[in-house]
Amino acid sequence: MSAQLVLSDTGANFGTWEAVFRKAAPDVALVHDQPARDLSGIRYCMTWKPLPDVYTRMPDLKALFVLGAGVERFLADTTIPPQVEIVKMAEPGLTQAMEHYVLWQVLELHRDFRGLATAQREVRWIDQSYPAPWDRKVGVMGLGTLGDAVARKLQSFGFATRGWSRSAKSIDGVDVFAGGDKIAAFLDGLEILVCLLPLTPETRGILNADLFRHLAPGAGLINVGRGAQLNEADLLSALESGQLGGASLDVFHTEPLPEGHPFWRHPKILVTPHLASDVDPESAAVAIKRQIDRLETGQGLEHVADRRRGY
Ligand SMILES: NC(=O)c1ccc[n+]([C@@H]2O[C@H](COP(=O)([O-])OP(=O)(O)OC[C@H]3O[C@@H](n4cnc5c(N)ncnc54)[C@H](OP(=O)(O)O)[C@@H]3O)[C@@H](O)[C@H]2O)c1
Repeated sequence: MSAQLVLSDTGANFGTWEAVFRKAAPDVALVHDQPARDLSGIRYCMTWKPLPDVYTRMPDLKALFVLGAGVERFLADTTIPPQVEIVKMAEPGLTQAMEHYVLWQVLELHRDFRGLATAQREVRWIDQSYPAPWDRKVGVMGLGTLGDAVARKLQSFGFATRGWSRSAKSIDGVDVFAGGDKIAAFLDGLEILVCLLPLTPETRGILNADLFRHLAPGAGLINVGRGAQLNEADLLSALESGQLGGASLDVFHTEPLPEGHPFWRHPKILVTPHLASDVDPESAAVAIKRQIDRLETGQGLEHVADRRRGY
């Protein structure tokens, strides 16, 4: 018998997802959530923007597949019963898009494309030098599904790559640091810092003046984690003083970024509208089907969010 999976999402197009599942995971029967629909008996649900009361209407819910990256909103939702497993999205489309975005921004900062664009606008033929990638110290905060892939990608492009996570791990060719007591050693003299941390009480506001002081003078910052991880005033001061040389920001405290916000027109900030990476429906369907198969065959789910850790 095929497994039933509810799509409960106010923004998703059911027909599109149904077609994707028919092609990529035909033995999963997609069920369209509607306001007040009784969904008892169904064990699986996928969502990003759930319909009202869906968790009450799914008394047999076992696994909730989050159709986006970053689960802080779901972990804070007290209407989700504690026995429901909240599953983080991990699929190749999302990961590859993030690798591309970060590589793009690292290369842009490494080769100072902003300086070159300014020179072109001013019709100036400039002499620009830059270090070899192996002399460029790049660090990735957060070595989960995305940070691990990004650190490997940067290393494969020749950058002197470091990584930082909560627990110890090993990545070929990457200098890995773990835990709060190693953060200073990780940051020391970094020239480009990438934030790919989840938003938790520990990581809120972590990108601040104290942290910037550890970086090389004129370092670049790339924030693709969450906007609330950045102290915006500290960033503006660090750019003003030259402590930081540039920032590429994809995530913000308030999204969309308000029209009058100083980041929009800042010459040293590149703003992108929270599009670094998104879920690819087809590979997401394959990943969800694989997870359902694991659960149905008693293997247990992967990428389950830890309510205690907050990610
Ligand atoms: N801008 C975008 O378009 C976009 C797209 C996708 C995701 N994101 C953001 O990227 C985040 C990361 O995604 P992911 O799938 O890679 O997450 P993940 O698999 O949950 O990995 C999180 C990583 O952060 C580390 N970490 C968590 N708290 C820490 C702390 N206090 N100190 C040090 N390290 C800590 C974890 O360490 P351990 O390995 O030791 O557990 C892990 O390596 C998401 O939560 C989301 O906010 C943004």
